[in-house]
Amino acid sequence: MKKLITAFIALLFLFAACQPAGQQKAATSGNDIEKRVEDLLSKMSLDEKIGQMNQYTSRWEMTGPAPANADSMFIYNMIKEGKLGSMLNVTGVAATRKVQKLAVDSSRLGIPLILGYDVIHGYKTIFPISLAEAASWDPEVAKLSAKVAADESAAAGLHWTFAPMVDVSRDARWGRVMEGAGEDPYLGSKMAYARVKGFQGDDLSAENTIAACVKHFAAYGFAEAGRDYNTVDVSEELLQNVIFPPFKASVEAGAATFMNSFNTLNGIPATGNVYLQRDILKGAWNFDGFVVSDWGSIGEMINHGFAADRKDAALKAITAGSDMDMEANAYIEDLKGLVESGQVKESLIDDAVRRILRIKFRLGLFDDPWKYCNEEREKTVLLSAENLAAAREVAKKSIVLLKNENNLLPLAKTGQKIAVIGELAASKDVPLGNWRAQAIPNSAVSLLEGIKAVAGEQNVIFAKGPDYVISARNFATKLKYNETDLTGLDAAVKAARSASVVVIALGEDCFQSGEGRSQSDISLKGLQQRLLEEVYKANKNVVVVLMNGRPLEINWMAENVPAILETWHLGSQAGNAIADVLFGDYNPSGKLPVSFPRSVGQMPLYYNHLFTGRPSGSEDVTLWSRYTDVSNSPLYPFGYGLSYTTFEYSNLHLSDTVLTANGEITVKVNLKNSGNRFGEEVAQLYIRDITGSIARPVKELKGFQKIGLNAGDNTEVTFKITTKDLEFFTKANGWKAEPGKFKLWVGTSSAEGLEADFVLK
Ligand code: NOJ
Repeated sequence: MKKLITAFIALLFLFAACQPAGQQKAATSGNDIEKRVEDLLSKMSLDEKIGQMNQYTSRWEMTGPAPANADSMFIYNMIKEGKLGSMLNVTGVAATRKVQKLAVDSSRLGIPLILGYDVIHGYKTIFPISLAEAASWDPEVAKLSAKVAADESAAAGLHWTFAPMVDVSRDARWGRVMEGAGEDPYLGSKMAYARVKGFQGDDLSAENTIAACVKHFAAYGFAEAGRDYNTVDVSEELLQNVIFPPFKASVEAGAATFMNSFNTLNGIPATGNVYLQRDILKGAWNFDGFVVSDWGSIGEMINHGFAADRKDAALKAITAGSDMDMEANAYIEDLKGLVESGQVKESLIDDAVRRILRIKFRLGLFDDPWKYCNEEREKTVLLSAENLAAAREVAKKSIVLLKNENNLLPLAKTGQKIAVIGELAASKDVPLGNWRAQAIPNSAVSLLEGIKAVAGEQNVIFAKGPDYVISARNFATKLKYNETDLTGLDAAVKAARSASVVVIALGEDCFQSGEGRSQSDISLKGLQQRLLEEVYKANKNVVVVLMNGRPLEINWMAENVPAILETWHLGSQAGNAIADVLFGDYNPSGKLPVSFPRSVGQMPLYYNHLFTGRPSGSEDVTLWSRYTDVSNSPLYPFGYGLSYTTFEYSNLHLSDTVLTANGEITVKVNLKNSGNRFGEEVAQLYIRDITGSIARPVKELKGFQKIGLNAGDNTEVTFKITTKDLEFFTKANGWKAEPGKFKLWVGTSSAEGLEADFVLK
């Protein structure tokens, strides 16, 4: 018996010894994880520590410039030698299991890899692009989409998404506007918070949640002239008041990781920026996760003229708090030498590795590295009927009705011929958008299919019109548009003439916006404008369905055609969702998260701008702050969007006109659905601080509520204001609300609303 017990104990020891390091005990609490991190760290060699800080892409998918070493064997060896802590662009259970097995079974300490991917708006079931989702003004919608994306990614072996992208941007020339939540820090913060929660849930170690990576820290969206990767030079006030809030909200939501950015910020690359990463993120905000560089951004500090060579770049990046090197090879090649020469303290390396291991523990990777490698889940979860239904739901809520003269919309489902026109209308690919992860090419429901499903094949005439994009269409190719070949134009005009109503799809190819897709001209490309004008000549009952990833210049359209529906790039269920709105099964409720300009020359254009010393005057005088050839105002303002019903605001009432330091003002307004069908309205609260120690914006969004009302019904909408809502940052005083006079508006967009005054004592 004694022998048996001894053998059993020996077996137990053997079992424990064979487990990957740190795997002996399941993580139960934060303290427990911290102990396990320290324990593991104490066993690691310097090489192994640096290995954890190294990340490579798979050799079959690239989302940045191709690495010099294109060989998969090279990667496998690096994993076995413990020189790789993470990979990106490895997807699917089979592939992720293969690399994970090498890490867990063949490296000395068996530390699992953390596997990341750009799951921006869906993994296989594709949701609307992030900008579109922001147009729902419904954080629950963004949360749902992130939750489904996490479920699918986790079922396909992934642990980590490089999302949400929370860069505020005011410039439609920048192609990456599509990835964010638009121009406003308040709306952006609500969306960022919801997305982090959607990806991560309440338990990072659950089998259907993944770690978020909030990007790009920071100020990437303020690239000069909207040119991607370009210089950013902004004040600390702008950083704190406008750029930081969505990042801070993400930390508050518990975001596991951050990604830094390619740009310089006031002369210092974000990747080498101590202020951003150490002082703000890890200091003031107490962020305890890790920061990954952007693709090669450590090396790019040499191009910026900020680092002399790769070694210097590694030194500057680690000093600044970049914990993981994506594809620059700077850490794996140069950090050891830097430690040995005393230029980098090992404690700095330990801090970075601690952060990386902490997230791996929180994901539960040490307890079960195979948890995310489940073929069964991969088969059942991806593209499930439930996920597709969620994609349709999110898509219809992301649509914005820009114009609807004489109630041309909604269309009758029967009794009329509908001409559907334009290459984009039949496209099953464009609606999938850029950053489409593992979408099956050409798998979206096209607009044409969506319309036919409701109106019946026999009532629909389709004409493609002239070709639009005539080059290859993909993530890496520069697009070419057809400017000359009119083939298809006559047929389109004929179709328009023979129909009672025209639905024409115009806008952008999905690879027209996204990374590296800056444009100096944001009007319709190719022959689209010509097609629109010819079709309009033939039939005035035109509904334009816009598909695009950024605000466009659409003056002629706005002036002439009776109906315009902004549908962005809506994902897998685009055609069905648009048809839901076109035929009135869903009453559009979206509002613009970005201002639409009259001219690209107005960029940057945003509603929450400052006054100038010469802010107004008649349109005819010159010596005021204005263009001589275009109005200052946007074509469609931030927060704007119509419905098939109408809403009336009345009886704005404040509980007090004086706000005290610890007090609160209750703002009440009556909202009535004055039309004849159910609809949802986003009631928006804006505040202006009349005078401050620095000039203050003309108005700032401080609250919103999306409310559904039946025809004829009304409700009282309530907002609360405290001093916290009035705080703003100045270098002199930090975050502080300054006593004085304020104005507020409650209404349907940033351009109109009922008005009241109050004072902060
Ligand atoms: C570069 C992009 O800027 C970033 O957003 C993305 O996550 C990485 N490449 C990885 O694909």
